[in-house]
Amino acid sequence: MINNFKNDVNEGLSKVNKTLSSKYFYDKKGDAIFVEIMNMPEYYLTNAEMDIFKNQTQNIIDSLKLQKDTFFELVELGAGDGTKTKQLLQKLDDDGYDFEYVPIDISQNALNQLETTLHKEFPNVNVSKRQGEYFKILSSFKDTKAPKVVLFLGSNIGNLLDDNAKRFVASLSESLNTNDKILLGVDLIKSVDIVLPAYNDKQGITKRFNLNVLERINRELEGDFNLDEFDHLPEYTVVEGIAKSYLVSKIDQIVTIDSLNKSFVFKKGEKIHTEISRKYNDDIINNILKDSQLKLITRLTDCKHYFADYILEKV
Ligand code: AVJ
Repeated sequence: MINNFKNDVNEGLSKVNKTLSSKYFYDKKGDAIFVEIMNMPEYYLTNAEMDIFKNQTQNIIDSLKLQKDTFFELVELGAGDGTKTKQLLQKLDDDGYDFEYVPIDISQNALNQLETTLHKEFPNVNVSKRQGEYFKILSSFKDTKAPKVVLFLGSNIGNLLDDNAKRFVASLSESLNTNDKILLGVDLIKSVDIVLPAYNDKQGITKRFNLNVLERINRELEGDFNLDEFDHLPEYTVVEGIAKSYLVSKIDQIVTIDSLNKSFVFKKGEKIHTEISRKYNDDIINNILKDSQLKLITRLTDCKHYFADYILEKV
């Protein structure tokens, strides 16, 4: 793990256009900052998807074609704290559906916490947590005969460029059996005045989130990044439909990373690309689903039409 980080940092910072992967945001500190982000007023994604889970729960259940007398596994990729999913669990539990909830997460800590709160709030719901990488775990499911519903919420897929999202969806599809379902939550393309503030909040929480990757390099790879000498820069245009985040060097400077035995030169104004957050519409989703053996059944949107949950079925 640390070696991948080290190699990726070295590779990314050695490029003409410097990059650092957003997957490295999520250490313990980054996880905590992301929770702050989800609670910011500017970060509309959380409330928008919550609106769907709260006010269209029955619609979700109907679209997924769930039946009370047929056991199914409700799998969630990157479950986090399960706030939205709890709305669905509540309804399924109340109405007597026969299912098991299987949250998958890379963070054992997040899973343990989730399990504890679920046992308290839903003593009747069977929870079977799995720690690890999505696909390793999913492929181990392939042989189980029970129908599956896979939740992938929060526009988490948006960190992937479309070609990678295509590959991701194809592997996900591979791990499913005919008639299994996916509920894919994605942020929709909308105007700059709504999207940009979500990645550029007034309190500077997103800035801290972005800078945390430099802090992590300092901590884990013995770097000497001075965080005061970097700015957070978000960009978004409706035409492209992709929010992008950069870290910008405020001055000419040289940063040394001891564990790499290497120094990196930054010019004043030079950018490190750290994240993309793809926004979607039906055409983009259809393109991603092409050749995946997944059929689009329907899409549910929140009352403001900011966010969509697409229901997909393996053919
Ligand atoms: C977790 C990928 C959905 O892109 O909106 C939030 C991450 N980055 N603010 C997103 C994020 C900056 C988030 N996702």
